[in-house]
Amino acid sequence: MRRDIDPAEAGRRAFYQLLTAVVVPRPIAWVSSLSAEGQPNLAPHSFFTVACADPPVVQFTSVRRKDSLRNIEATREFVVCMATEPLFEQVNATGTTFPYGYDEAAAVGLAREPSARVAPTRVAASPVALECVLHATVCLGDSTVVFGRVVHAAVDEDVLDGDHPRYDLMKPLARLGRDEWGLARETRWITRIPYDQWPGHFAGTSEPGGAVRGDDMDVAGG
Ligand SMILES: Cc1cc2nc3c(=O)[nH]c(=O)nc-3n(C[C@H](O)[C@H](O)[C@H](O)COP(=O)(O)O)c2cc1C
Repeated sequence: MRRDIDPAEAGRRAFYQLLTAVVVPRPIAWVSSLSAEGQPNLAPHSFFTVACADPPVVQFTSVRRKDSLRNIEATREFVVCMATEPLFEQVNATGTTFPYGYDEAAAVGLAREPSARVAPTRVAASPVALECVLHATVCLGDSTVVFGRVVHAAVDEDVLDGDHPRYDLMKPLARLGRDEWGLARETRWITRIPYDQWPGHFAGTSEPGGAVRGDDMDVAGG
């Protein structure tokens, strides 16, 4: 049995709550920007993902017009800092709707450090910073999607395994539905299967509607 839900009948808020509870877990872009007057701003945005591989572009969505959007439209630069478990309280607190021009990082006691390629600063305690130049914005209903060309990445050596940023060391936070947040707890590995090796290590059946034969998909990769 499934429950069928029509967005038009559910109502805007209820369907928003449904969407944000089922599109999970969402990584959190902690967006650092500067106003035209040079005032720093920091705010979490979980409608966030990679938009393009080459050139490297990330995107986040401002639901209605937030200060971050206003700043980025004015100054065309921002930094996406990774929101991590040790910074849980601070990430949440910077989501408070402070008045325009309020310095959220200072309010929650976060140190900043200069960025390499853009004017907005990085959160010093965040292990990953993606420095971005505004590529484009797209208005969609009540929201604006912001695309940022990544011009520099700064990654803390402490979370690197060779050249590879390690999930368990970065400890990214994720946003779930309601006031629920997800923590990085477990990593599984599985290699992609080249078509010429199909079914390779695939443990289930490829027949449509067929039962899965094995349940141990945790095949070591590398
Ligand atoms: C974890 C978290 C994720 C959030 N994600 C978004 C988001 O994707 N888009 C959005 O517009 N607001 C989001 N918010 C709310 C904004 O952070 C909040 O409205 C904030 O005051 C905006 O700050 P600003 O006006 O300085 O840009 C989120 C809040 C939290 C705590």
